[in-house]
Amino acid sequence: MVRYDPTIYQGAAAHYRYGRPAYSSALEVVLGKELGLDGRGRLLDVGCGPGVLTVRLAHLFEEAVGLDPDPDMIAEARRAAEEQRIANITCVEALAEDLPDAAPGTYRLVTFGSSFWWTDAVRVAETVYDMLEPGGALVLVMHKAGGPSVPPSPGPPPIPHAEIEALVEKYLGSARRAGQGAPPARRADEDVIASTRFGVPQVIFAPGIPDLVRDTESVLAGYFSFSFSAPHLFGDRVEAFATDVRNLLRARSPEGVFWDWPGDTKVILARR
Ligand SMILES: C[S@@+](CC[C@H](N)C(=O)[O-])C[C@H]1O[C@@H](n2cnc3c(N)ncnc32)[C@H](O)[C@@H]1O
Repeated sequence: MVRYDPTIYQGAAAHYRYGRPAYSSALEVVLGKELGLDGRGRLLDVGCGPGVLTVRLAHLFEEAVGLDPDPDMIAEARRAAEEQRIANITCVEALAEDLPDAAPGTYRLVTFGSSFWWTDAVRVAETVYDMLEPGGALVLVMHKAGGPSVPPSPGPPPIPHAEIEALVEKYLGSARRAGQGAPPARRADEDVIASTRFGVPQVIFAPGIPDLVRDTESVLAGYFSFSFSAPHLFGDRVEAFATDVRNLLRARSPEGVFWDWPGDTKVILARR
């Protein structure tokens, strides 16, 4: 049983869209082909954060619902939908565990972008199973670094993640933090899904963006968007941490640009 801690992403929402690298640019094509998406039906994006998948996929459906318990994330999701003038998105502030009541109805696709593991996953997957139309699917989307095919840098140095993480550790200690405690223990997503009525899911890798270049502030924003280094965890030392990161990044790249390789995009697809 995972108990939701409303402080896990406290202060992170404002940094999220600027700080997080995009998923594969082939994602829409992959999902469209696998699921025969044709503009009909509804999408539910659970743990939508600032609407990352909701805004990307809404055009493939009649209606899209983004759901997240964090009010700041939901505000960012609404803002993203407005900015991009996407009229068929509704945003709901609720937990995955509040389904189906929080977003009732039938869905063709239910997505979790890097959010499934925060939820009471078996229970939530079973609930989603009953919310899907026949042939509909539950899909988990995440970055998957560490694969065999690391592309060459387009020029700039890579983000010095190990050194930034050492700074996080210097400020926050060696135990990973999340909210008021530690992140939940994590089982492989495939095993979780396989233990539900969905059975063994399909796994697809969509090619990551090979030449993603980010600036210093975007790299820092990325760290502030993570639960383990969210701004609130640093208390009154948040500016000191930001200064240390900026100094480190300046030393690694005087031009202030970095190559990011978050990996390919892993898609775990389970059909009803
Ligand atoms: C890493 S962010 C992912 C945001 C976005 N889906 C993406 O792909 O980038 C994880 C999100 O899960 C949300 N979350 C955490 N616990 C949740 C729960 N029990 N139910 C639904 N969402 C939850 C957080 O508020 C956060 O916005």
